Amino acid sequence: MTLRIGIVGCGNISDIYLTNLPRFRGTAVTAVADLKPEAARAQGEKHGVRAVPVDDIFKRDDVDLILNLTVPAAHAEVSLRAIEAGKHVYGEKPLATSLADGRAIVAAAAAKGLRVGSAPDTILGAGVQRARRLFDDGAIGSVVTGTATVLGRGMEHWHPNPEFFFKPGGGPVLDMGPYYIATLVTLLGPIKSIRATGQIGRRERLVTSEGPMRGQTISVETLTTVNALYHFENGADVVFLASWDVWAHGQLPIELHGTRASIRVPDPNFFGGVISVAEPAGDWTAIDVGGETLGRVNWPAAEPRLANYRGVGIADLAAGLREGRPHRASGDLALHTLAVMLGTLEAATEGRVVEVAETCVQPAVLTEEDAAALWPG
Ligand SMILES: NC(=O)c1ccc[n+]([C@@H]2O[C@H](COP(=O)([O-])OP(=O)(O)OC[C@H]3O[C@@H](n4cnc5c(N)ncnc54)[C@H](O)[C@@H]3O)[C@@H](O)[C@H]2O)c1
Repeated sequence: MTLRIGIVGCGNISDIYLTNLPRFRGTAVTAVADLKPEAARAQGEKHGVRAVPVDDIFKRDDVDLILNLTVPAAHAEVSLRAIEAGKHVYGEKPLATSLADGRAIVAAAAAKGLRVGSAPDTILGAGVQRARRLFDDGAIGSVVTGTATVLGRGMEHWHPNPEFFFKPGGGPVLDMGPYYIATLVTLLGPIKSIRATGQIGRRERLVTSEGPMRGQTISVETLTTVNALYHFENGADVVFLASWDVWAHGQLPIELHGTRASIRVPDPNFFGGVISVAEPAGDWTAIDVGGETLGRVNWPAAEPRLANYRGVGIADLAAGLREGRPHRASGDLALHTLAVMLGTLEAATEGRVVEVAETCVQPAVLTEEDAAALWPG
């Protein structure tokens, strides 16, 4: 049984989904749509898929799941419309931009017996999953402390239209947080409470990228630096640093310290990479996951370090439907991730501890065998 997918939103990120989905087992794209019909037409022609008006895609009999690749501000509207029309839905991150909208999506789907899935599915990549197996095997022990860091100078020097990054709904926590938080939850389970501080490092940003905004100044209206402390239900305390006020740094993406060993997890924005483990008596030992199914350079020729298998979360959802089991990149995980991100901003701006009400089940491990069943290569 093939899950037939209709894509809404034919921008930047749609290309990789349109490339990968026909190659996963059990998924096919049957229609594409976009507010800009020319964008849908162009992607449809390039990938041999029918382009249809947005209003029509929700009504089609040959669409079982709407893949929502619109901009974050439109995520809730499009996903709710899909569910209303009786379609499963999978969306790019974040699930929504408000907790109320995120809750509404998950509740509406549950009421109709439909599935909700969400990026990031890099959590199913060989980097995170090999690390997860080390945790499950007891190699790391119980995590006591650790750091997760996503630091940089911002977006105004490369993105042609960077204004939205510095307005409410933007900022480093909401933009990059999903990769880090979903990965930490995949490894350690859900987050219970949050402490945080935050700053707007510079009130104005000068756009230096090529494009229509070059030379203009953006007034910053969201935190550009957040230092958070996450307390996990399993007892771990992990510091999360997210900043666009950093020129250069020497931090690693994720380093966790357990009672048996310390572990360095590869960049959670990618599927592959190198894990390092240090046991009490030894130095770091590297584990390269490049030979594993979702850690290889993928087809046709992604940059080696990217190994971009975006869409595997949908293939897992399709397999979950066939096999009558939950999928891993789930709506509950995405709602928990959203609650943590918004809770982080709340903790930082209000100077109080935020308890996370929306918890989730730690997603099941994806074995090499499971991965190979989804991605024949
Ligand atoms: N571009 C990336 O590298 C990247 C990487 C990871 C995740 N994402 C996520 O993917 C999503 C899309 O990003 P993008 O870079 O492709 O954006 P984009 O602006 O290039 O494309 C979005 C498309 O959605 C269309 N659209 C907007 N509202 C719509 C609506 N209501 N109905 C139908 N179509 C609508 C727009 O016309 C546009 O063509 C975002 O959530 C982003 O966070 C992007």
